[in-house]
Amino acid sequence: MALSSSHHILLLSFLLSCYVPLGLARRHWPVGGSTRFYDFKVQTTRVTKLCKTKDIVTVNGMFPGPVIYAQEDDRIIVTVTNESPHNATIHWHGVRQRLSCWADGPSYITQCPIQAGQSFTYEFTLFQQKGTLFWHAHISWLRATVNGAIVIYPKTSVPYPFPYPYEEHVLIFGEYWHKDMLQLEKEVVASGGGPPPAEAYLINSHPGPRYNCSATDVYKIDVVPGKTYLLRLISASLNMEHFFAIAGHKLTIVEADAEYTKPFTVDRLMITPGQTINVLVKADQPIDRYDMAMGPYMSAQNVTFQNISAIAHFQYTGATLDDLSLPAQLPVYNDNLVVNTNLHMLRSLNATNLPSEIDANLFFTVGLNVEECHSSNPNKSCQGPSGGVFAASMNNVSFVKPNISLLQAYYNNINGLYTDDFPGVPLKTYDFVNGAPNNIPNDTQSLIGTKVKVLEYGSRVQLILQNTGTVTTENHPIHLHGYNFYVVGYGTGNYNPMGAKLNLVDPPYMNTIGVPVGGWAAIRFVADNPGVWFMHCHFDVHLTWGLSMAFIVKNGEGPLETLPHPPADLPRC
Ligand code: C2O
Repeated sequence: MALSSSHHILLLSFLLSCYVPLGLARRHWPVGGSTRFYDFKVQTTRVTKLCKTKDIVTVNGMFPGPVIYAQEDDRIIVTVTNESPHNATIHWHGVRQRLSCWADGPSYITQCPIQAGQSFTYEFTLFQQKGTLFWHAHISWLRATVNGAIVIYPKTSVPYPFPYPYEEHVLIFGEYWHKDMLQLEKEVVASGGGPPPAEAYLINSHPGPRYNCSATDVYKIDVVPGKTYLLRLISASLNMEHFFAIAGHKLTIVEADAEYTKPFTVDRLMITPGQTINVLVKADQPIDRYDMAMGPYMSAQNVTFQNISAIAHFQYTGATLDDLSLPAQLPVYNDNLVVNTNLHMLRSLNATNLPSEIDANLFFTVGLNVEECHSSNPNKSCQGPSGGVFAASMNNVSFVKPNISLLQAYYNNINGLYTDDFPGVPLKTYDFVNGAPNNIPNDTQSLIGTKVKVLEYGSRVQLILQNTGTVTTENHPIHLHGYNFYVVGYGTGNYNPMGAKLNLVDPPYMNTIGVPVGGWAAIRFVADNPGVWFMHCHFDVHLTWGLSMAFIVKNGEGPLETLPHPPADLPRC
């Protein structure tokens, strides 16, 4: 079995070896510079971590999975063959999928799952995209082990807007459980309660020395004194947000969610599941071995979580090997100030296409619910707060996945699978943060349904995401498929249109935003990509509980504003 350990490559060998001649597979507009082919085999793979062995689901036996390397505007063709016994899909997180919604990958949203023994070829273009993204399974909780980086270089001879790094490395953050992930999701749903904490956090699948029976399972980057490194940080964590820091070294953020930012330097950062952050790190400290630490950011109340950090090593050439490594300082687990300060400093390098007029003014609440217990065995199945069952919602609607994909239902005009009455604003207005219903479970229930919000092609959308205080306030990482959005504002407490200061100059352009705990974020985007686009909390447990909705963006005029036909091999349910 090939467990990938090192993810760095030399750009030169990449440039010399990876080109496929132009003109292959030009099936749809837009067409990029080159076409790159990948073969993904979804497999069952045996791993041993923390002294226990289990079977995990992987791509090509690798954990993390293979890296997709490409250049801006390249066309990517990935044939995914499912050799595992479970249903599978792959989502290309952050890829904007211009006119290729069929290749987006969320199960029951844009496609039926690829069943055992079947395959599906995903085709899409990295149209005007460069930077770090990632791919992951988008079904049940399989993405814990089915994930990998997407590294998109600028076009040939287009430089980075920052000093060229000596070398680059991918660091994928994750969470690890001894339980089988499909089983774990089933058990959590059946219990009505919260998920058990992870056994360990992982950096490129290595927990590091702080956990029991893991002293030598440590990821390491070798560095040359004086050189600058580009670290491509990716959070593939399931249910937790994380702080990251390197002992004695500063991190200069130059890119977030595959968009350049104005560089800014921090001692530590927070990364939510679904986010990618590129940082430059200069090896400018005395020769030694330094810890890279990844530990919990937990903004909610009364949640049990793993509080031991994953550690990897940032090791200078020439450091003596029996050296103890220097420990990194992470903020305390509930340091909201660090999170909000970093968000404040995050600015686009250039914000083009930022809409100043708005056609659709939307307001979605984001939070938890507790439903009444309807079980004959409440001790077993109603382990949520006050003997209820956990749920989660947007505008108090808990999303239920249909049993064929929404995109197929929409495209083929199949009635009865969804309704288009997802509310554009909450049905009830109240003090969302401090006056939220909390008489559990009597007033904390949500509506249940498969509701979508329809947007006209080209509409300029402003959406306020407002966290609620039912059960607990919490920072929720909200991810939108098919688009990046400008984060024009955020704050604590309730959004107030009069008092809110918006940044319409250089807001960051993200695909996932950690909505501040007990606060709000305002995002803007132009709905110019037709299809069905999922929006959800990137905590898998909240996704399971219904914290999601979907936008249907209608076709515009002519072929460049119209979703093409589905591919012939689209999986059937
Ligand atoms: Cu990275 Cu719908 O997810």
